[in-house]
Amino acid sequence: MGIKRVSVIGAGQMGSGIAQVAAQSGFPVVLLDTKEEFVQKGFNTIAKNLDRSVSKGRITEEEKAEILNRITTTTDMEDAARDADIVIEAVIENMGVKTEVFRQLDELCPGHAILASNTSSLPITEIAAATKRPEQVIGMHFMNPVPVMKLVEVIRGLATSDEVFQTVMQLAGEMGKHPVEVNDFPGFVSNRVLMPMINEAIYAVYEGVATPEAIDEVMKLGMNHPMGPLTLADFIGLDTCLYIMETLYEGFGDSKYRPCPLLRKYVKAGWLGRKSGRGFYVYE
Ligand code: CAA
Repeated sequence: MGIKRVSVIGAGQMGSGIAQVAAQSGFPVVLLDTKEEFVQKGFNTIAKNLDRSVSKGRITEEEKAEILNRITTTTDMEDAARDADIVIEAVIENMGVKTEVFRQLDELCPGHAILASNTSSLPITEIAAATKRPEQVIGMHFMNPVPVMKLVEVIRGLATSDEVFQTVMQLAGEMGKHPVEVNDFPGFVSNRVLMPMINEAIYAVYEGVATPEAIDEVMKLGMNHPMGPLTLADFIGLDTCLYIMETLYEGFGDSKYRPCPLLRKYVKAGWLGRKSGRGFYVYE
């Protein structure tokens, strides 16, 4: 089955990035969020990213206009569902919210449509169970910042069909990404490996081993990571980091995944990283 039309649910950091790469790859895209101001913010982020590409000479003004023209914004789920061959959901990491979105999409989308989730750690099998088409539900986990990062983890739920899996692997390639197949276990691969490293870096701050700056320098200069783990945690959002650690801890029942008390404390204080202006670092 070939994908011709893509819809994206959620116009935040991830959703707008996914809409941008889909439109850049030639797909007509419908981008939805619950409020007009949220979709406009997402659309403006895409326009700003494309402006940067124009100023760097990677695309022309005409190409920028064509890409933006391929994106329709809406706050009405029926608009997003009606003609979609695939819907990629990128709403808040909350099982209740996600299953409600999938239940609605299942009712409103054409029978052939694939329903994909950009969840970073929630079980695809459980999301799929909220629909009457679990064989057409799959995980498509993009990395932040979506326009830059090459990887898409493609997560097969228990019931995901081979045909849907192959279609999504091909779509990810057509979107200029490198898809990697992963089975449905808590945190998949990316966050099962990344988050315990970030959590351990937070323990190192908590136990006074070194300052956040020193820890980040060790990992940047010693391991060639593009960002140190604490800068990366602030970039991802400390609430998201905590949520993923809790998903791992609950999903495996293993104390090695316990979230660091300092991470909990920061989240309770509202120190969520870059988006709130303060996390391990302070942002102007
Ligand atoms: N949107 C679009 N483009 C962006 C961007 C954004 N938010 N941020 C940076 N870029 C682009 C820049 O325009 C620049 O493009 P050119 O090379 O064409 O000029 C390029 O990325 C490099 O940016 P900078 O030179 O400003 O800075 P940098 O070299 O430090 O790179 C970075 C920035 C790509 C973010 C790099 O620091 C990096 O790779 N960091 C690690 C990111 C990472 O690990 N992401 C995964 C997070 S985990 C996740 O997403 C999964 C989850 O479930 C939590």
